Amino acid sequence: MLAATLFFGSLSSFAFLYPGLSNQSLPFYMLRPMHVSAALFWIITGGVCGILIYLPKVYPFARLAPRAERSFALFWVGTILVIFGCYALKQFGGREYWAFPPWLALPLLGAWACLMWAYFAAWRSRRDSPLYVWMWTTGIVAFLATFLEQNLYHIPWFRDSFLRELTVQWKSNGSMVGAWNQMIYGTSLYLMVRISGNEQIARSRSAFFFYFLGLTNLMFNWGHHIYNLPTNHWIRHVAYGVTMTEWLILVHIIQDFRSKLAQDRKLKHLLAYRFIIASEYWVLANLVLALFMSIPAINRYTHGTHITVAHAMGATIGINTMILLSSFGYFLNIDRLRPGLKKSISRGFVVVQVSLSIFWLALITAGVLKAWRETGLGMTSFDEIMQPVRQVLFVFALAGIGLLLGMMPIIRAYWLALRQQEKEKKNGEEEPPAHHRVPESATLPEEASR
Ligand code: HEM
Repeated sequence: MLAATLFFGSLSSFAFLYPGLSNQSLPFYMLRPMHVSAALFWIITGGVCGILIYLPKVYPFARLAPRAERSFALFWVGTILVIFGCYALKQFGGREYWAFPPWLALPLLGAWACLMWAYFAAWRSRRDSPLYVWMWTTGIVAFLATFLEQNLYHIPWFRDSFLRELTVQWKSNGSMVGAWNQMIYGTSLYLMVRISGNEQIARSRSAFFFYFLGLTNLMFNWGHHIYNLPTNHWIRHVAYGVTMTEWLILVHIIQDFRSKLAQDRKLKHLLAYRFIIASEYWVLANLVLALFMSIPAINRYTHGTHITVAHAMGATIGINTMILLSSFGYFLNIDRLRPGLKKSISRGFVVVQVSLSIFWLALITAGVLKAWRETGLGMTSFDEIMQPVRQVLFVFALAGIGLLLGMMPIIRAYWLALRQQEKEKKNGEEEPPAHHRVPESATLPEEASR
């Protein structure tokens, strides 16, 4: 799915710039849903895989429901294949980000029900569960709620008013991001605990405080997605107030940075950990951007420009994808691959970070230019507005190719690691979990005392 995302993304950026070349065979209106659906399925499936792999390690004696787990995998993967088959046959439908024929939402829902069955069979509602378990649970339940909400448009009352429907769509898509973030950030926390050997990180009061703050934001901050819609003012005011509490998260991240940097230096020889470090830098950059975008006076300019796209892709690539690469890297034990493969992951990592930075900055520049010409200068002709923006988008498209090229050796190495792991399993060789090979001294005194 990750390879498909990158491939369709690169094609769609050129299809947008040169419609004359692609309109006959693969037009932008086909490539965009293919790219975005692949991205969403990569992130959601990756988040779920992390939970299914790590939950039995947290509750080794819990009852598992392997049949429910297998049914989830079967329905989920089968439906994704049908969805891409429909796209190839130009059969679209549904709504933004889920642009396939609407009936396909049913098997996805069935698959999610199987996943919840498998998850809750293993889950133990002990009060002392570590924070990452709470985050996984929150994410799985919140995804169900937002997925149902996203499909409310099947009820005619929601379609009766265009504004009502748009409000629910923008709201549910915004909250859904919060749901998968809970799953993925939970995995990131789990990895930090396992790699550093410090369980306290997932049990401290401050960790739980920030979890509740994140949960409040998941439930109430979506109002910044609908600032531009004529809804009730109090919704905007509540959302604005709640969103601004995220500055606390920002301040906390910055305060924590020094002790974090010391830890990062100790563990940066571990490839899986390096992806986590990268995700933290991207959290910082994207949080600053998101906070500014959530101020109504600024949102008035940024809405509907490439700044929104920078926000969406900055977070899904920089944060979600980096954490997922760390999660799969840890599970596949990439740190014990042969030196040649490890080197290619390292090189790919550097190319990805450099390309992503150019990619992200180019989108923000394109957005600022468009916002200035459209809202600042009051231009109304789309063609006129877009003239200088297109040149910046060309840089964006080239950086996208860089991202694709950087990611490919990483995907290849992971693929080979998976094959190797399967072979070892067949031969009955058990590899000790990655964290057993991290020296005890990796736990910092400040972290331990916190
Ligand atoms: C892991 C890699 C990637 C992920 C997770 C990802 C994710 C996304 C998401 C979520 C959107 C929807 C944004 C929105 O609606 O605001 C999007 C749009 C888009 N992406 Fe990506 N993307 C990835 C890589 C790429 C690459 C390498 C390119 C190549 C240049 C690219 C080009 C595009 C384009 C052209 C759009 C449409 C923007 C628009 O309609 O204005 N993406 N991507």
